[in-house]
Amino acid sequence: MKLFSVKLRASKDGKHISGAERITPYEKINTVINQLYQRLSRKEFDSINIKIDILKEQPLLVEKTLPVVNLTFKNHIEANKTAVQIIQKQTGLSEEKIKQLIDLIHSGASPDGENMRGAMIVDQKGNRLERDRFRGIRTTHVDYLDREGIVKKLIKKGFTERTADALALTTKNMLHKDIIAEYCISDEPDYLTGYISTKEAYYRLTPLKEKGNKKGGRIYFIKNGADIDGIYRFLEKKPVLIKDADI
Ligand code: COA
Ligand code: AMP
Repeated sequence: MKLFSVKLRASKDGKHISGAERITPYEKINTVINQLYQRLSRKEFDSINIKIDILKEQPLLVEKTLPVVNLTFKNHIEANKTAVQIIQKQTGLSEEKIKQLIDLIHSGASPDGENMRGAMIVDQKGNRLERDRFRGIRTTHVDYLDREGIVKKLIKKGFTERTADALALTTKNMLHKDIIAEYCISDEPDYLTGYISTKEAYYRLTPLKEKGNKKGGRIYFIKNGADIDGIYRFLEKKPVLIKDADI
């Protein structure tokens, strides 16, 4: 079956507001565009860009997402302490280095002090390896085989469609053999839940950021000596479809 990647992204005054992607058969393109438009147009925009591309290779079918673990904390400082511990265990990086990187995400990791347009890449020596520090790397070409069913299942358990999107994205990241952990906080000032992923689990931490902070971003922690071009190729190009959510 021919499958298509459908991406919509909204911006205002030249600044990205939000975006989403679906992988869908030809017959559902119209429906998917409408669904994404409904979602994106809730925010004030002056431009919406729609991109439709046929998938050039068959998607990798994955049985399940990472298992979801919910953790709640008194405040974002306590949550970040746990985040540092989880990342330290996976990467072997010093706590100080991890704190430094996390602080950068909370204060704008792009060289101009704004949010990056994608994720930072950091190896086990603490080196930043993204090709462009303004852009970073963006994970795309990932969706659920039966998105409606998965979203229903997640909502029944108290999650949202945002969780479905983040869970799919990070599950794809953790499929790559050289990516060992991820840290993420949203750039929305009122969305305080963030996550850490490892090969074993998707840890949802609430609150991982301070209310009102417009800064956000992601850090992909990778093994030393990993093939960076291979990571870009896999995360940006390889289509992945996930069958079920492990909740
Ligand atoms: N932040 C800022 N700018 C962005 C952006 C982002 N997240 N995504 C796209 N843009 C802008 C950039 O200027 C980009 O140019 P660049 O490649 O030089 O940075 C331009 O739009 C063109 O982007 P495009 O090549 O079409 O983007 P893409 O193939 O990476 O897809 C999304 C963009 C938003 C559709 C894709 O990243 C996506 O679906 N992300 C999933 C979002 C999600 O589910 N998040 C989890 C929720 S918690
Ligand atoms: P979001 O999860 O959409 O709130 O995005 C939070 C941050 O993650 C953004 O500010 C970007 O720095 C980064 N980001 C956004 N989209 C992607 C993506 N597709 N892959 C990797 N990083 C992303």
